[in-house]
Amino acid sequence: MKVWTFALSAGVLLAQHSFTRADIEDGSRLYSNTCAACHGANGDRVSGVDLMHGRFRRAATDDGVAAIIQKGIPGTAMPPHALTDFQAGSIVAYLRSVAAEAGSVSGTGDVARGKAIFEGKGACQTCHSVRNSGSLVGPDLTDIGAIRRAPQLERSLLDPDGEILAQNRTYRVVTREGTVITGRLLNHDVFTIQLMDAQGPRSFQKANLKESGFVEKSPMPSYQGKLSAQELADLVSYLVSLKGIQTQ
Ligand code: HEC
Ligand code: HEC
Repeated sequence: MKVWTFALSAGVLLAQHSFTRADIEDGSRLYSNTCAACHGANGDRVSGVDLMHGRFRRAATDDGVAAIIQKGIPGTAMPPHALTDFQAGSIVAYLRSVAAEAGSVSGTGDVARGKAIFEGKGACQTCHSVRNSGSLVGPDLTDIGAIRRAPQLERSLLDPDGEILAQNRTYRVVTREGTVITGRLLNHDVFTIQLMDAQGPRSFQKANLKESGFVEKSPMPSYQGKLSAQELADLVSYLVSLKGIQTQ
């Protein structure tokens, strides 16, 4: 097998296409939905492959990585993905942004104490469930540790309205007829918007909408100032430990 070394600076693709923070969030969402099942939240679940440290065996440039994402790697389990250049690029920009923030990963807390805070002081079960225990108002967190990394989890606790985790922000569209539909934003382009609501994925022509946009506030309260740094670290460690039903 040909071994490539990473030759170009991390910013090449980012600079060329100038991915915004919002594009990188889209890339993060695409990664979670499309890639994490095989590659894991930390990009290291496929043996010999490490997607989040800025070095790729089979690609020397960001555009090369984007091409792998789109075309797959024939003869291996890496499938092709029907993504646009921009979408593939936004995933690469996301992988780069994770590599750049490496070192800021927390999760140095105590899992058992974190679980106690989750079920007690934090009252997280008012809205979330873990393995069928708790409420379904918010997303089920049974495998949150398999799809989100510690810094993202910490941000979702401190700043639920923040920019980084657009994944779960409620998106709202109002049709010309006045019907209001809210759900999770799956994708959007110049002409269409795709939402996931209780009925499943739905697509809307923008031309037929009176309004569309994120609902500004998350129903989730911020825990900034409500938990000590240690409690926060414990809670994040507990969330990181939630990797689905089978592994618990
Ligand atoms: C069905 C499982 C599967 C899915 C889904 C998948 N991959 Fe892969 N991917 C693999 C496997 C297995 C390899 C290793 C192939 C090999 O080299 O033998 C791989 C290799 C790669 C490589 C090459 C790594 C390197 O060091 O050169 C990149 C980049 C990559 N995947 C990115 C992605 C991205 C981004 C997504 C989501 C859009 C994705 N993959 C989705 C299984 C998957
Ligand atoms: C009043 C309801 C409510 C409470 C209480 C609440 N959450 Fe949430 N939470 C939500 C909703 C709704 C979302 C999805 C929207 C968002 O991300 O803000 C969410 C999102 C999250 C996410 C991001 C999920 C993802 O897929 O990235 C995490 C992690 C999370 N909550 C953890 C917690 C923890 C831990 C607690 C307790 C300390 C808690 N939440 C308390 C409603 C709540």
